[in-house]
Amino acid sequence: LFPGEETGSVMSLIPLIYCVFFALLVGGAHGFVFSCNEIKNKLINQNLQEPTRFVCLMTQDGYKNLDSLKSIYAQSDKISVSFADLLNNCAERPSNGPWRIVADLPITLDCEQELSLIFTSSPSIILHEPGTLAFNGEVTIVRPETGIRINNKQCTGSGNVTIFTGAGSGVAEYRFPMTSWTCAEMPDWIVSFESVISVTIDSGVDLTAELSWHDHSSEIIVSHFDRMAVMSSGRSDDVQLLEKYINSVTFKSSAKVPMSVRCDSHFENGNYLTLYTDSIEFYSDSKNITSGEYAWSDTASLFEIDYKTTPVASEDLWNNQDNFVCEFTLGGAALVVSTTQATNIVGKDPYCQCGLTKFGMPEDNWNPSEIWVDIAIILDTSEAMGSVQLINAASLIDSFFGTDDEDVLTTNTTAKFYTRVGLIAMSDKAE
Ligand SMILES: *[C@@H]1O[C@H](CO)[C@@H](O)[C@H](O)[C@H]1NC(C)=O
Ligand SMILES: *[C@@H]1O[C@H](CO)[C@@H](O)[C@H](O)[C@H]1NC(C)=O
Ligand SMILES: *[C@@H]1O[C@H](CO)[C@@H](O)[C@H](O)[C@H]1NC(C)=O
Repeated sequence: LFPGEETGSVMSLIPLIYCVFFALLVGGAHGFVFSCNEIKNKLINQNLQEPTRFVCLMTQDGYKNLDSLKSIYAQSDKISVSFADLLNNCAERPSNGPWRIVADLPITLDCEQELSLIFTSSPSIILHEPGTLAFNGEVTIVRPETGIRINNKQCTGSGNVTIFTGAGSGVAEYRFPMTSWTCAEMPDWIVSFESVISVTIDSGVDLTAELSWHDHSSEIIVSHFDRMAVMSSGRSDDVQLLEKYINSVTFKSSAKVPMSVRCDSHFENGNYLTLYTDSIEFYSDSKNITSGEYAWSDTASLFEIDYKTTPVASEDLWNNQDNFVCEFTLGGAALVVSTTQATNIVGKDPYCQCGLTKFGMPEDNWNPSEIWVDIAIILDTSEAMGSVQLINAASLIDSFFGTDDEDVLTTNTTAKFYTRVGLIAMSDKAE
């Protein structure tokens, strides 16, 4: 990815007209990842300098405006490389001077299509094409027009997989950790609404995943027991807040399954998430998720998260600090039984002989209000469960039993048929 000799060869060709702010040095740089409008409004011929070893430029798929890139340059120690030469590549600075972005006047950069300009000191691999990946060390994934999907195919070994917003060498270059999982906990699907994320794996981990682009409108087909993570952050770059991006993801399973979702979020500017499922009858009954920790469970076959943002004008794109990670867990025991014999039976429950779908769920034509059952649940609360699994188990139980309309089995003792539930929490002793 590094262009080798090209940096030096273009240096003497450039007639630069600006040179006005040259004497001014600015200490702190706001970010190390820049979208097209930020390049235009904050970098070109401004006094912002970035003290990193590399600069990389990625363009969106089918980028057309190549001509305008010929007269914009990344410059370090008076050596310049034009954006046209840098295209989908990185350049290394000739010595230790900072980078500055300069352009011939008039500036012709058109931001109808997106660019990502990345200043980084880390020589990590930069990926900007979809495909199957065997991860190694650190990779940075760039999709200038936003929307990244990672489908975990296989993760083995001990150690963590960590997702970061941004690129570069750690927090000093605005690469902030979003979340970290062991292989066993790693979701099947990771969706990011961002343009630049990084993934690191610990040395004992082997991870193979399919990288694809998230288009915000097509559904992702998931299976019973899948786990999904949805995330976004403004801490590195916030191009996803531009009015033209509608940040949304829909997961669809072929049958209704128990689902629990947990979010950890921080929002600014009145931004929030909305969560819909197909068990909610009206969109007005959707769940809004604002800053804080959030947990909810439901039984549904369609789960949608929308990131509702107050659009930011292109010249104000800069320093939004929104940050959220939501994790969906599907499945759990098929706790419900059918009282009617159905057609199209894939399997039979050995106890009730009722029809089950391939997901282990009862056939559709059963009526939970006709179920009359006593259930004892034994919940492993030992340390090995981990607090996340424990909260997921608790919210799954909570979503199944209770007196709300959304509960699968009612515990309302005035109903004709109701469920009695006993809960035993077990660690070293039962309670
Ligand atoms: C690995 O991930 C777990 C969460 O799944 C976290 O608690 C732990 O701190 C992580 N370990 C490292 C070294 O990041
Ligand atoms: C979610 O927030 C939006 C905007 O404030 C509001 O219009 C909508 O009614 C809220 N939905 C729920 C279920 O609270
Ligand atoms: C329990 O069921 C009765 C009869 O269907 C109903 O009137 C009552 O509101 C229910 N109680 C709760 C707490 O849902």
